[in-house]
Amino acid sequence: MTKSILIVAAERGLGLGLAQQFFDRGWSVVGTARPAADAADLEGVGAADPARLSVATIDVTQADAIAPFLAELGERRFDVIYFNAGIWGAAHQSVAQASNAELAEIMLTNTFGPIRLAHRLLDHLTLGGTYCFMSSHRASIAINFEGGLELYRASKVALNMLARGLWATNRERAMTVLSIHPGWVSTAMGTLDGTVEAEMELEPSVRGVADVVERHMGSGDNLYLDWRGEKLDW
Ligand SMILES: NC(=O)c1ccc[n+]([C@@H]2O[C@H](COP(=O)([O-])OP(=O)(O)OC[C@H]3O[C@@H](n4cnc5c(N)ncnc54)[C@H](OP(=O)(O)O)[C@@H]3O)[C@@H](O)[C@H]2O)c1
Repeated sequence: MTKSILIVAAERGLGLGLAQQFFDRGWSVVGTARPAADAADLEGVGAADPARLSVATIDVTQADAIAPFLAELGERRFDVIYFNAGIWGAAHQSVAQASNAELAEIMLTNTFGPIRLAHRLLDHLTLGGTYCFMSSHRASIAINFEGGLELYRASKVALNMLARGLWATNRERAMTVLSIHPGWVSTAMGTLDGTVEAEMELEPSVRGVADVVERHMGSGDNLYLDWRGEKLDW
């Protein structure tokens, strides 16, 4: 049977790359974009078989947008739901310097927004289905010996924690929850809008991430893994 995935934030960057990967592997893909975004590249992913690709709309920071989004999905259920939306946050990355608005924006976009949506999407996940959250190696407390990047790190470590909580409190659903570090990848975020060089190109990252998803989906585990499938220390 055709496997299905919902990718939240799929119209550019890693999300778009993942939409292409899963589509090319024969999956049925729903990708989301924010209301004002240009979803032409995402629509293009489905050119070879439009029945297997559709686009839905959600901004993860907007509580009021959840009900219309769920209505848009209708009765659809997915084997995998991948929460990819994220921002880098204020360039200074410093808690000491951050305004309340900067603190609120990164936590709402990277942490509370995706987790709130994940709770509301539970009935759109098949029994024994898999939630994936786009984490980062920057979320690892164990390997953080250099400090810095406080806003981004805090948002992603909290994302990992709340993802664990979702898994732990929904054991009857037999869900798998994966927190995945995609590598340091050449996207708008990974290059800080073209001002720094990333470590890897998009294609090997999304190929590795899709391999990790296919390997661990349905296992019932909660894991923190990188794009090669190696375990990260929490
Ligand atoms: N690139 C890396 O090296 C790297 C490393 C580790 C983790 N990550 C994580 O990977 C994910 C994707 O990053 P990327 O590198 O592909 O960055 P990107 O090119 O900047 O893409 C970010 C994506 O998130 C979406 N987004 C931002 N705010 C949103 C909101 N409020 N609601 C819904 N969608 C929203 C963007 O939509 P718009 O187009 O509408 O802005 C876009 O689709 C992020 O969670 C990031 O933290 C990236």
